[in-house]
Amino acid sequence: MVNPKPAERVRIELADRSYDILIGAGALADARSFDGLPASRDALVVTNVTVAPLYAQRLLEILRGRHEHVHVIALPDGEAHKDWTTLNAIFDALLQQGCDRKTVLYALGGGVVGDMTGFAAACYMRGVPFVQLPTTLLAQVDSSVGGKTAINHPLGKNMIGAFYQPLRVIADLSTLATLPRREIAAGLAEVIKYGPIADDEFFGWIEQHADELVALQPAALMHAVKRSCEIKAAVVGQDERESGLRAILNFGHTFGHAIEAGLGYGEWLHGEAVGCGMVMAATLSMRLGLIDAAYVARLRRLVERVGLPVRAPDLGRERWLELMRVDKKTEGGAIRYVVIEAPGRAAMRAVPDEVVAGVVAECSG
Ligand code: NAD
Ligand code: GLY
Repeated sequence: MVNPKPAERVRIELADRSYDILIGAGALADARSFDGLPASRDALVVTNVTVAPLYAQRLLEILRGRHEHVHVIALPDGEAHKDWTTLNAIFDALLQQGCDRKTVLYALGGGVVGDMTGFAAACYMRGVPFVQLPTTLLAQVDSSVGGKTAINHPLGKNMIGAFYQPLRVIADLSTLATLPRREIAAGLAEVIKYGPIADDEFFGWIEQHADELVALQPAALMHAVKRSCEIKAAVVGQDERESGLRAILNFGHTFGHAIEAGLGYGEWLHGEAVGCGMVMAATLSMRLGLIDAAYVARLRRLVERVGLPVRAPDLGRERWLELMRVDKKTEGGAIRYVVIEAPGRAAMRAVPDEVVAGVVAECSG
C-alpha cells in the first residue's frame, strides 16, 4: 500500500545525531518512510504480544525488502515487564540470531517497547542503530522522541537507562484507531503538558479541540502530534542530556511517578499519573504564588474532560515524600519540582516538604 499523502516532517537538531520525526496516517506501510535508513543484513523488530498481531505484518513486508534477515521478538505486554528480565530477552534474541553491530532494531509499540528497545540498542555491542515506530499517542507525542531509554527498578521508575537517539521516528497516526480509550486519554496527558510548560496558545487550542482529540479526528490529531513533537524537539535540541531546560518536560511527573511506584507499576497508566500529577504541580505553583487558582482550575477541567483522573490516591504523607525523593531531579536529598511560573513558562524549584505535603493533602484521598 502506498500512502498517497507524504508524512509530515519535524526535524530534531542534535548535530551528528539529528533525525526526522515522520508523522502521517499510513506512514508505517509506506516504503518512503524508510528511505535512507541503513539496509543492514539483520534487523530485529521488537514489539509486544498485543501490537504484533495488529501491525507487525505490514512492517515486515517493508523490512523484508530492505534486510536479508528480519527477526521478531514479541515481549510480554505492560509496564510491569519494563525490567531486566524482559530486556535480557532482547539480548538473548540478538545473540541467538547472530546479530552483529550493524543490526538495526525497530521498536514497534508504545513507550514501554520504545524505551526498552532503545536501551537494548544503546547496550548491545556498545551501541547499534534503532528506529522508533510508536503506536500509542503517548509514544508519538513524547516517548519516541528525544532519546531517553530506560527500564524500571522496583525502587524507582526509569532509574536504569541511557540517552540514546534513534535514527528516525515514524509515527503512523492510523495505528491509534485500535488504541483503547483509556490509552488515548493517557496520551492526551502528555499533549496537554506542552501547553503549561511551553505554549499557552497551544493550551487554548487543546481546550477548543479536546472533543475532536478524544475522537481521534484526523486533522486535530495531526496538529496535536506535530505541535507536541515540535515543542519537544526544540527543548531536546537545546538540552539533550537534561542538564537544565529539558527537565520542564517532566511537569507533573514527580507526583505522577510517586503514584505509579506507590500503587505498583501498571495500576494507573503513566499518562493517568501524569495528568493527575500536573494538577498537583499546578496546585504547588499556585501555593508558591506563581499562578492563580483560575489557571489551576482550567488545567484540572481539561485533564478531567479528556478522561483522566484528577484526584490522587492516599499513599500517606511520609510515603509520598519518600517516593518523590526517588526522582532523577533530586539533588543532595532536596526534591526539585517543575513549576509553572506563568502560563506557557516552566521552571525548576526546590520546595520545602511542608509545602508539598500541603499539596498532597489537598489533592489526594
Ligand atoms: P505502553 O507502551 O504500555 O502501551 C499502552 C498499551 O497499549 C499497551 O498495552 C500496548 O500493548 C498497547 N498498544 C500499543 N499500541 C497499540 C495500538 N496501536 N493499538 C492497541 N493497543 C496498543 O504505554 P505508553 O503509554 O505508550 O508508554 C508509557 C511508557 O513510556 C512508560 O513506561 C513511560 O515511562 C514511558 N515514557 C518514556 C518517555 C521518554 O522520553 N522516553 C516519555 C514518556 C513516557
Ligand atoms: N519525557 C521527558 C523527556 O523526554 O525528557
